[in-house]
Parts: sequence; structure tokens; C-alpha cells
Amino acid sequence: MTNKVGVIGWPVTHSLSPAMHNAAFKALGLSDWQYELAPVPPDIVGPSLRMLRDEGGFIGVNVTVPLKEKVMSFVSSDELARAVGAVNTIDFRKNTGTNTDVVGLIDDLKAHDIKLEGAKVIVLGAGGAARAAVYGLAKAGAQVTVVNRTQQKAQVMLADLTISAGIRSADVKTLDEAAEEDVSLIVNCTSVGLWPKVDESPWITGVPFPNDVTVYDTVYRPERTLLMQQVEANGGQAIGGLGMLVRQGAAAFKIWTQQAPPVEVMFEAARAVLAK
Ligand code: ATR
Repeated sequence: MTNKVGVIGWPVTHSLSPAMHNAAFKALGLSDWQYELAPVPPDIVGPSLRMLRDEGGFIGVNVTVPLKEKVMSFVSSDELARAVGAVNTIDFRKNTGTNTDVVGLIDDLKAHDIKLEGAKVIVLGAGGAARAAVYGLAKAGAQVTVVNRTQQKAQVMLADLTISAGIRSADVKTLDEAAEEDVSLIVNCTSVGLWPKVDESPWITGVPFPNDVTVYDTVYRPERTLLMQQVEANGGQAIGGLGMLVRQGAAAFKIWTQQAPPVEVMFEAARAVLAK
């Protein structure tokens, strides 16, 4: 029998995950494994999960927008998922949910030799992606400043993270104030610059970039965002978010198959789809 896994979301049409996981199954000779797209409307999440598990032959699923919070009522979430307030990977065998976005980001920063312990980091945004980033960065010892268009949303996010995860080292500032400090890393967790609006940037015109800063843009479509181009033009470095996507997928792959994920194969498959 085929071991099915997949991604649930609404819609899920542009996902790179099927290509990435199916290439990984092939590379490891896991011919009885298959990754599929499973569109699930938000109002029928519970019954859909039950159906995928009990009748669909699914071992587990990834969860994407807008279901990452909703699925938490139907699975047993681990401490990490509860702290972040979102589940992106479910294992139906135990009916457990975790969040591999955090390890995806932190692993990719480490793969690029970015120092986090004691580093001053700006996180742009206050949605689900920002929450995972602030959690991971603060746990890795970084001093995080959150900058968001709607400042109150950032304050609520940090208050939540203090209660759910004991994080007290992060604060909220305006971009002007935050960029004046000795910041070594900026992580863009807004959706600004995402295809097709490629001529937009979350960086406010006229605010100087900190010296010698690295931008990590969680946006991976396009591979080089306007924000990345801006920081490079100002003497900084830029890293796109494809690595985070691949590494969160690799972590899910490991949970489902209990095998070491072929990360390079997954990278190649994701790049091949993006190049189309
Ligand atoms: P996700 O869960 O993927 O992080 P989200 O919850 O919709 O997505 O959050 C999107 C983030 O991008 C928010 O921080 C949002 O800012 P607001 O809280 O002010 O809405 C930010 N964002 C989206 N469009 C923006 C824009 N045009 N300029 C600045 N920030 C923007």
C-alpha cells in the first residue's frame, strides 16, 4: 500500500512541496511513498483531517495558509507548536502536530554561518511567519526587535510569546529606531515583495540600512526580491527564503519516514519548479 503524505491548505496550487518530497522519496528508493496536494476549505478542517487519515491512507500532512492555527483543535500539538501558535506538520499515526518552520529558518541561517547568539536582529512583520521567527531567534540567543506596519499587532504578538514561551528579550520599535542600532541581521517575515508584486519592498525609503547587515527574506518567489537587491546595493548581504522552505520540508520528511532527508535533492527539485 502507498504511504501517502501531502499538504493541506486553501488554495494549495502553487506549492513546491510535492516536487521536493517526491524527488526525495525517489532518491532514497522509497517507491511506496507519495506526496499529494490536498485542498481543504477552512470550514471543514476537522472532517477533512479524519477523512485523509481514516479513508485516504495518509500518514501525515503539511499544513499551510490559512489552516495552520485551525488544525490545532484536532491534533495534539507539541510544546513548540503551542508556543508558536501554529502547526505545519501532522503525523496521523500519533495524531500529533508540530511546527518545522522554526527549525527550517534557524537551520538555514546556521547553514549560512549567521551568528545568532547575542546578535541584534530586526524581524519585519507580526503574522504567523514572524511569530515563528521571533520564537526561534530568541531561543537561539538573539536580541530581537520587531518592526511592523501595525505596531499594536507586534505588541500583541510579543505579549503572547511571553505568556506561551517565556520570551522576554524581544521588543517593538519603529524602523527608524530599530535600524539605528548595531543590527547584524534583518529577517523579512512580511509578504511584501512576493510575486507578482515584485516591485514592492518592506523597507521604508530614506531609512539607511545598518552597516554590513544581512537580510534574510522568507519570501522565495522571486528568488531575488527587491529588498534583497536594496540591501546588496547598500553594501549588505542577502539570502532568499528557499532554504527555509526546503529545510522545514526536510524536517517533516524525517518525522514521516524516519529517514535522513536528502536536503540537496530537495533543493534541486524546488529550484527546478521555481525556474519554470
Ligand atoms: P503570515 O501568517 O504569512 O505571516 P499574515 O499573518 O497575513 O501572514 O502577516 C503578514 C504580515 O505582513 C503582517 O505583519 C503585515 O502587516 P500588518 O500587521 O500591518 O498587516 C505585513 N504586511 C502585509 N502587507 C504589507 C504592506 N503592504 N506593508 C507593510 N507590511 C505589510
